[in-house]
Amino acid sequence: MSTSPPSGRLAPFATTIFAEMTALAVATGSINLGQGFPDTDGPPEILEAAVAAIRSGENQYPPSAGVPALRAAIADHQRRCYGLEYDPDGEVLVTTGATEGIAAALIGLCEPGDGVVMFQPFYDSYAACAAISGADATMVTLRAPDWSFDPDELRAAVSPRTRLVLLNSPHNPTGKVFSRTELEEVARVCREHDLVAVTDEVYEHLVYDGEHVPLATLEGMRDRCVSLSSAGKTFSCTGWKIGWACGPSRLVARVRAAKQFLTFATGTPFQHAVAEGLAGGDRLVTPLRDSLRERRDLLCDGLESLGLTVHRPAATYFATTDVASIGEDDAVTFCRELPARCGVVAVPSSVFYSDPEPGRTLVRWAFCKRPEVLREALTGLQALVPARR
Ligand SMILES: Cc1ncc(COP(=O)(O)O)c(C=O)c1O
Repeated sequence: MSTSPPSGRLAPFATTIFAEMTALAVATGSINLGQGFPDTDGPPEILEAAVAAIRSGENQYPPSAGVPALRAAIADHQRRCYGLEYDPDGEVLVTTGATEGIAAALIGLCEPGDGVVMFQPFYDSYAACAAISGADATMVTLRAPDWSFDPDELRAAVSPRTRLVLLNSPHNPTGKVFSRTELEEVARVCREHDLVAVTDEVYEHLVYDGEHVPLATLEGMRDRCVSLSSAGKTFSCTGWKIGWACGPSRLVARVRAAKQFLTFATGTPFQHAVAEGLAGGDRLVTPLRDSLRERRDLLCDGLESLGLTVHRPAATYFATTDVASIGEDDAVTFCRELPARCGVVAVPSSVFYSDPEPGRTLVRWAFCKRPEVLREALTGLQALVPARR
């Protein structure tokens, strides 16, 4: 366990590694497996629904909480997929991507000096948003190869000032899906210490092995949980930035209070299109999940054949490798040199840690790209093989 420093590398105004690596990819003409965005469009009917919404005049400010059709579709989705009941009026809030959901939840639910418990490695906005809200983040470390955590470390992370636990499952960057037993552990801590849980479930439909269990479905958790998700990953439309928060009205009201001064409202035509997408159900989601599972295996098999230790993910867009297995002892240097050596960009996982040491030799690779792009990247990465012989 380690406590995040109040400033320095967690300062919310620093340039992100994604900006640095994307600029490097552009400058060197490299294949960008750094940032997690698909290089193909989502289902045509959702794209057409957005065009139709624009043409039919859905172009002005929507209600701050989101258009009624989308709030109803989100409530239906939660009921159909998980048996969770939410009132579209007051218990469902549309956000500008899950990114705004995370920010608004932390700002709305925490007072300066409150404690937030989160797991490292973590999605990079978590620590920045905790810093913006004035809360102090305490980390519990997920350890390879299965990215499990020590329940004692979780319990020790909770102090009298702790207000909430921020949980991401399925998890970026590791691709871990928290097991029911692990979730029970988190739920027990939340119940014992009367904590709020904020869950980031943006990869809920991109699970290749196992099952996603929302924390809110566990005993006593629905009424202390704000569940966040987003259409970006589910429908391959990461640029639309349509996300949502579901939870009891007393918590969602606080998230909404913060949201109204962040963006006030979120892209009207895209909300209508996502409402149609959610109504489409598994028919739209299953083909994407199956194709991503194949691409996961393509990339992981290829990376393994290069001699890298691969932590094959159960979910998400990302695979993690340990480059120590090819004699590299610093993933940041490895990733900075990779474009020139191989024409490929990847991200050093240490940026997802408050204490970078456990991630020092880990590298994250995105596989949400076309198979031919992944094959081309693997061909470029062959250059790593002679370098270590
Ligand atoms: C774990 C996690 N949470 C949130 C987000 C951001 O989601 P959105 O694009 O909907 O803002 C991402 C995007 O990569 C993510 O990986």
